[in-house]
Amino acid sequence: MHTAVNQPATLPVSLAAYDSAMQRQPPSPQDTSKAESCERDARRAHWEQVYASKAIAAVSWYQPSAAQSLALIRSVAPPPAATIIDVGGGASVLVDQLLDAGYRTPTVLDVAAGALAAAQLRLGERATQVHWLQSDILEAPLEPAAYDLWHDRAAFHFLTDPAQRARYRCQLLRSLRPGGHLVLACFATDGPSRCSGLPVVRYDAASLATELGEGFLPLQEASGDHVTPSGAIQRFLYMVFRHQPR
Ligand SMILES: C[S@@+](CC[C@H](N)C(=O)[O-])C[C@H]1O[C@@H](n2cnc3c(N)ncnc32)[C@H](O)[C@@H]1O
Repeated sequence: MHTAVNQPATLPVSLAAYDSAMQRQPPSPQDTSKAESCERDARRAHWEQVYASKAIAAVSWYQPSAAQSLALIRSVAPPPAATIIDVGGGASVLVDQLLDAGYRTPTVLDVAAGALAAAQLRLGERATQVHWLQSDILEAPLEPAAYDLWHDRAAFHFLTDPAQRARYRCQLLRSLRPGGHLVLACFATDGPSRCSGLPVVRYDAASLATELGEGFLPLQEASGDHVTPSGAIQRFLYMVFRHQPR
């Protein structure tokens, strides 16, 4: 519990004084975990609301085919044996295309239950061939070394706080097997600065490699122009990394 400092005990504490006291005192672990849990709730509420209010083919990131992701995935983790997780997969058709390509039991993780439900509805009977995980990637209970390939298109770039990116990297390091691959697609430096009303971090190949740090060897990079349902063009950066622990 924080108390305002330098205030006469008998006077009510003004908001400004409270703010200034908060700035001087480091947050306790309880405050930090409360703040993180509020942040997670807000993130989930945001995305649930997006999927509840828009048709799947109307969201700006909708693509009728995830061909560029699939080609990169196939180039480093051929079917059928590779275990794949699509992080922040939403209602993307990538999972349909992974099944078509012969991958067994891909995992789709997303914070929004509504997105997963839409993908399940589209897949019908085939939805039983997929492992669905409704969770925030920053706290998802992922098994160690569980995946041969980790794919993320347009989820990582929403992590604007370095502490969130550090947490994401921990999850990645733990659950991507050594020698496994990461296919990451983010807005490029000349891409949009916001998506779905939220700020994003834009990357070039060097800054993305720096962000991931040691242990991720860049293998391929490509740019991709995404055409939104309203006809705008968004420049993406796609990169493939190998997880190479030192
Ligand atoms: C821009 S959409 C991209 C969806 C999909 N990857 C695609 O390419 O169509 C971002 C997705 O990431 C999900 N997301 C955002 N933050 C997340 C988090 N912290 N953990 C898990 N999913 C998250 C959202 O619910 C949303 O489905």
